[in-house]
Amino acid sequence: MINFKDLGLVNSRELFKKAMDGKYAIPAFNFNNMEQMQAIVQACAETKSPVILQVSSGARKYANQTLLRYMAQGAVEYGRELGVDIPIVLHLDHGNSFELCQSCIEYGFSSVMIDGSHLPWDENIALTAKVVEYAHKHDVTVEGELGVLAGIEDDVVAEHHTYTQPEEVEAFLKATGVDSLAISIGTSHGANKFKPEQCTRDENGILVPPPLRFDILEEIEKRIPGFPIVLHGASSVPQDLVAIINKYGGALKDAIGIPEDQLRRAASSAVCKINIDSDGRLAMTAAVREVFATQPAEFDPRKYLGPGRDLLKKLYKHKIENVLGSNNRI
Ligand code: G3H
Ligand code: 13P
Ligand code: ZN
Repeated sequence: MINFKDLGLVNSRELFKKAMDGKYAIPAFNFNNMEQMQAIVQACAETKSPVILQVSSGARKYANQTLLRYMAQGAVEYGRELGVDIPIVLHLDHGNSFELCQSCIEYGFSSVMIDGSHLPWDENIALTAKVVEYAHKHDVTVEGELGVLAGIEDDVVAEHHTYTQPEEVEAFLKATGVDSLAISIGTSHGANKFKPEQCTRDENGILVPPPLRFDILEEIEKRIPGFPIVLHGASSVPQDLVAIINKYGGALKDAIGIPEDQLRRAASSAVCKINIDSDGRLAMTAAVREVFATQPAEFDPRKYLGPGRDLLKKLYKHKIENVLGSNNRI
């Protein structure tokens, strides 16, 4: 059993309290390799932002549980080397079983998500409460979920959103004891969050997706004031990155994300954690594709992963400073 505190990590409790009071959100960036980790730590050190390093079960299999533990510890120490004591949470993203959550906690995670959102009400509560009971014994914080995002979640494809029902949240919190709650208000995972026919066009012909359901968020806030809310599926799918990818041989079609002004609005509400994965994938892919296409004789991985890392860092700094507002919060 490795205690997350021995790795220099923190759980999310204090970070969410400060984010709620300060009306900003903590970035939760998915990671599974060294370049992503370097980009995250450099971006957070330069902007003085706390961060949640987020690992899905697939990412854990890909990277290896032991390596991840040392990478998270390395992230803390790398931040210090850069002159900043960055509060870093190591978080399991979309945990789908008690055993997976338990194993992550034993390997040094400071926070876990148990995603029972696809389960019937009673089963979601029973599973989530069991994880909370175990996690809290180790001072690990737990994120639960109510409502289903459209798209792919836990290998389940849902055609439509099942929005979170505000009248259910109090009972869920009471029965489970979770520390934060992921909700469904119109975001979804991946780079194709909306079909073009769901969107309107602005005066410049740019596609504008339907707005998030802030009415549901507000109703939830009224019922559980001061409780930390989590937004999954919050990538914006920057069109300049999509254009670079497609210019250099990519084939991304109808890639549409959540407009940044909506995320800024969410970050200033009870939303304390905003999950971003797809935008990072786009940045890395854009940079690597550009090197492959413009320097075809290059075969040193540092020469394409390096530019990928630099573009990722730029993206993360932009998110922190211009979207989430978590800069200068250390
Ligand atoms: O919500 C899902 C995250 O983007 C992680 O995706 O399961 O492909 O690692 P993944
Ligand atoms: P995106 O696919 O919008 O980046 O969402 C990531 C996420 O919610 C991870 O849990
Ligand atoms: Zn998610």
